[in-house]
Amino acid sequence: MFEYTAPTNLLSGRNILITGASDGIGRCCARTFAQYGANLILLGRSLKKLEDLYDEIEKIYPGTTSIQPMDFNKASDDEYLSLASSVSEKYKQLDGLVLSAGMLGARNPIEFYPTEIWRETIQVNLNSVFMITKVLLPLLRLSDDARLLFISSSVGRRSRAHWGAYAVSKFAVEGFMQTLAEELEKTSAIKVNSLNPGGTKTNMRAEAYPAEDPDTLPTPEKLMPVYLYLFSNEAKTIHGHAIDASNFDPFNYLPLAK
Ligand SMILES: NC(=O)c1ccc[n+]([C@@H]2O[C@H](COP(=O)([O-])OP(=O)(O)OC[C@H]3O[C@@H](n4cnc5c(N)ncnc54)[C@H](OP(=O)(O)O)[C@@H]3O)[C@@H](O)[C@H]2O)c1
Repeated sequence: MFEYTAPTNLLSGRNILITGASDGIGRCCARTFAQYGANLILLGRSLKKLEDLYDEIEKIYPGTTSIQPMDFNKASDDEYLSLASSVSEKYKQLDGLVLSAGMLGARNPIEFYPTEIWRETIQVNLNSVFMITKVLLPLLRLSDDARLLFISSSVGRRSRAHWGAYAVSKFAVEGFMQTLAEELEKTSAIKVNSLNPGGTKTNMRAEAYPAEDPDTLPTPEKLMPVYLYLFSNEAKTIHGHAIDASNFDPFNYLPLAK
C-alpha cells in the first residue's frame, strides 16, 4: 500500500463534500479529512449515522461540519438544487467532492436480474453522480484548486458475471469521469479522477463476499494516504485518470497527452 505523510494542515480551510459519508470508506474519509483541517459537508442516507459522525467530528473540530441526509434513490431534482443552494449559503466555493455513496444491487445473471433493483442501482450509483456533479460544478469552479474524485470499482474496468447493474454503473462512472475531465481541462482548475479502492473491509464488501473473512482485507484507514495524496499539491497535475488504490504510484499518472 502507498505511504504518504500529509502535512497536518493539508486541507486547512478547504470545503469538501463527501457522499456516502455515513458509512464505510466515505465515513473514514470524512474522519481523516476532518483531521487534516477540512470543512466538511457530509451526505448520507441515514440521519442517525450522520448525526453520530457529526457529533464525533464536531467534538474535536468544532464548527467545521454540516450534514445533509439524502436518499439518492428518491431525491428529486429540486432536492439537488436545494443542496447546492445550502452549500453556497455556507461557503463561497467548494474545493473538493468525493462521491463515495454506492449500493451493490443484486448478484444475478442479467436474464434474472430484478428490474427494480437494476433501476435503483443505476439511480444511486450513476444518476446521483450526474445530478450532484451538475449542481455543484459552479461552486467547484469558484475554487482555485478543486478536486473531484469518483469512487469506482474493479468491475467498472473489467466486468464479471453476475455483477449486473453495479458493474454497469461503475463503467458509466468511468465514462462520465473521462467526459468531464476533457470538458474541464482547459476551462477550469478542477482536477477530476476516478479511484478504485479495491477490496476493503466494509458492509458492502461483506454483502458481496459473505464467505470471506473480513479480517483478511485492508481497512478503509489503509486507503487514506491515497485519498489525502489526491488532494495534495503534489497531485495537482493528476487529471482524467482511472486510479487504483492498491497499486497507487503517483509517477504512473502523468498529465494527459495533448
Ligand atoms: N468496500 C469495497 O470493497 C469496495 C470495492 C470497490 C469499490 N467500492 C466502492 O466504494 C464506495 C464506498 O463503498 P463502501 O464499501 O464504503 O460501502 P458501504 O460501507 O456500504 O457505504 C455505502 C455508503 O453509501 C450510502 N448509500 C447507499 N445507498 C444510498 C442511497 N440510496 N442514498 C444515499 N446514500 C446511499 C450509504 O449510506 P447509509 O449508510 O446512510 O445508508 C453509505 O454511506 C462505493 O462507491 C463502492 O462501490 C467499495
